[in-house]
Amino acid sequence: MEFSIKPLVPGRNASGCTVVGVYADRKLSEAATTLDKTSKGYIRRVIDRGDMAGAIGSSLMLHDVPGIASTRVLLLGLGPKAEFAEKQFRRCITTAIEVLAQTGTVDAELHVTELAVGRRDIEWRVMQTARAAREATYRFEQMKSAPAKEAPALRRVVLAVAKSDEKRAARGLSQGLALAHGISLARDLGNLPGNVCTPAYLAEQARKLAKHYRFKVQVLERADMEKLGMNTLLSVAAGSSQPPKLIVLEYRAGPKTQKPVVLVGKGVTFDTGGISLKPAPEMDEMKYDMSGAGSVLGTLKAVAEMKLPLNVIGIIPATENMPGGRATKPGDIVTSMSGLTVEILNTDAEGRLILCDALTYAERYDPAAVIDIATLTGACVIALGHVVSGLFANNDPLAREVLSAGEQSGDGAWHLPLHDEYQDQLRSNFADFANIGGRPAGAVTAACFLSRFTKKFKWAHLDVAGTAWKSGKDKGSTGRPVPLLTQFLVNRAGKR
Ligand code: BES
Ligand code: MN
Ligand code: ZN
Repeated sequence: MEFSIKPLVPGRNASGCTVVGVYADRKLSEAATTLDKTSKGYIRRVIDRGDMAGAIGSSLMLHDVPGIASTRVLLLGLGPKAEFAEKQFRRCITTAIEVLAQTGTVDAELHVTELAVGRRDIEWRVMQTARAAREATYRFEQMKSAPAKEAPALRRVVLAVAKSDEKRAARGLSQGLALAHGISLARDLGNLPGNVCTPAYLAEQARKLAKHYRFKVQVLERADMEKLGMNTLLSVAAGSSQPPKLIVLEYRAGPKTQKPVVLVGKGVTFDTGGISLKPAPEMDEMKYDMSGAGSVLGTLKAVAEMKLPLNVIGIIPATENMPGGRATKPGDIVTSMSGLTVEILNTDAEGRLILCDALTYAERYDPAAVIDIATLTGACVIALGHVVSGLFANNDPLAREVLSAGEQSGDGAWHLPLHDEYQDQLRSNFADFANIGGRPAGAVTAACFLSRFTKKFKWAHLDVAGTAWKSGKDKGSTGRPVPLLTQFLVNRAGKR
């Protein structure tokens, strides 16, 4: 699907479909009003019959509208005008593309980017349009012997904008496509099964990305990690025959003196739980346990494609978590790279064990900020469901920065507490502390564990266990939190 930007008068252009909005209570948008005039009141008559009341998510396809050059007109419900905000904007784009994709329309013109969305400018509106359209047509068919569905006929989408907005719209379009490509990479990686998406596969993808966008990549092998003393990471890999990898990407397009933002992504390519084995039902979903890693790769792709003038480091500890004769046992005590000792009471709390060594490794980059992203706890899913990611931070301004990037991108997070009192739950009789803190506040105690390794920098932690994928009929990776992370970096780049 190709996008372009043009100043178009609705109804004049011989396209396959002209898409215009209708607000609740049958209120026509400006573009719909123009069509109504050109068609001598045809649109109004259809609406007054009661076939399109303007509810958000609704749509009505019209054919051969008198006086209109395009073969079809799609009326798109926008909901109440006073409530038309970011979420409604993205939602109506998704509806438009989904409806168009079910028809024979080859080329469509969208008169939606001109709509007012709070204080959001044209750049934002075009960016979100391109992104939402691409997300709506995403398919994962790599593992099917033949495509499951016929590809939609829709090839070209023109975004109509005012002549004076063309330049800024073009910038929004390239940003939106870059973001969409990043999201799509993260979704592909999440959707791939554990027998394909192994630690070595993630390393290979990182190398490809770095080669394509010409930035530096380094993959540390088991022996390198042994030398560095990354024993908590290695303790998770102990039961697996897949060699673990520590992948380090260095995107440096900012000033030499600028401290980098470091993104650390949990890359457990399959989490069986290890000796503390998980129950069988839904265990297949643990192939998504590398979604944090996928989001780091996806974000770097977006950032590189946007050519953001920033320094960003990606660190991905990648391993399987398997039971086996050499696997770590409950009660085992290991010394992390930081020197702190950990009693592993539950081998299923493995994410924090690989992240803590990766976080210690991050110190060498003298980071401006570190954000780790992990499908860390089932407890976070219980607390927040699938709507927002859990956010923890040791620095309030950084937390606010992450939250606002989440709001801007429609990929929200919620700030959860890290009070000292919770730290007591990690007490161990035998080591410095344990890797689990009991049932209460499981997402918090996991973050508390990580906080012990992040004293030397500003740090935020995103628990994306509930947001990185969907279960049920629409089972699959969402690509979250690539939109949040990318927006965070776009904002940082804009500040300079
Ligand atoms: N990968 C899981 C967390 C998870 C669970 C993500 C469900 C998505 C859906 C993580 O490694 C894990 O197993 N966490 C345990 C921690 C517990 C043993 C303290 C959990 O949440 O049950
Ligand atoms: Mn686990
Ligand atoms: Zn896990």
